Amino acid sequence: MPGGIGDVVVDRFFRRPRGMIARRWWRDPKPHHEIFRDVLAAADLAPNDRLLEVGCGGGTFLEWALRSGCSAAAVDHSLDMVRLAEATNAAAVAEGRLEVRQAPGERLPYPDAAFICAVTMNVFFFLDGKAALAELARVLAPGGRLVLHTVAPDPPASVMPPLLARRMAFYDDECLAALLRDAGFTDVAVERRGKGELQLATARRSAP
Ligand SMILES: C[S@@+](CC[C@H](N)C(=O)[O-])C[C@H]1O[C@@H](n2cnc3c(N)ncnc32)[C@H](O)[C@@H]1O
Repeated sequence: MPGGIGDVVVDRFFRRPRGMIARRWWRDPKPHHEIFRDVLAAADLAPNDRLLEVGCGGGTFLEWALRSGCSAAAVDHSLDMVRLAEATNAAAVAEGRLEVRQAPGERLPYPDAAFICAVTMNVFFFLDGKAALAELARVLAPGGRLVLHTVAPDPPASVMPPLLARRMAFYDDECLAALLRDAGFTDVAVERRGKGELQLATARRSAP
């Protein structure tokens, strides 16, 4: 088993969270609240918007986003997280305002141009970046907004322990911007957040 027990723990807790302890932690990851606030502000949601979140974890961000009156869909490849996000947002699921599906971020189970806004936070470093951005561009309507929050290269150990960091992909600001442009996004901006160790990228799906 490459990496041994450390990698197994990282995988079960962060990359594909599952089990009781992970469910308890991801129900409301308070250290991520500031990131949720940043992404929510950048997403600027309105009641008629249809939002997609990739890698929704326990669904706290969705809970906050749905207060705008928007409708939403979300994917996560962990079945435990899908069920947790549904339980967290049971009323919205019952009303048909939220659908959560088990799916990989690199192969989204939605038709072209299905969303006007897409967000992803604390997930991009686990994804095949090119494939995930191509899918996000495909499912966003022309002019649709993308907000992507991730960790910048060489994060301090306090932000990203080396055991975790070595299994992740980080991109410097220029590289991330180029990936977004290559995938079909325009109005690309990459800002640093936190103490400079976090990246908030915003972009729009270019018109065909
Ligand atoms: C570190 S957690 C972040 C959860 C939430 N976005 C947050 O910020 O609190 C990463 C989440 O992304 C999901 N994930 C990781 N790789 C994925 C992939 N390739 N496709 C779909 N979901 C993925 C994991 O299952 C997990 O729920």
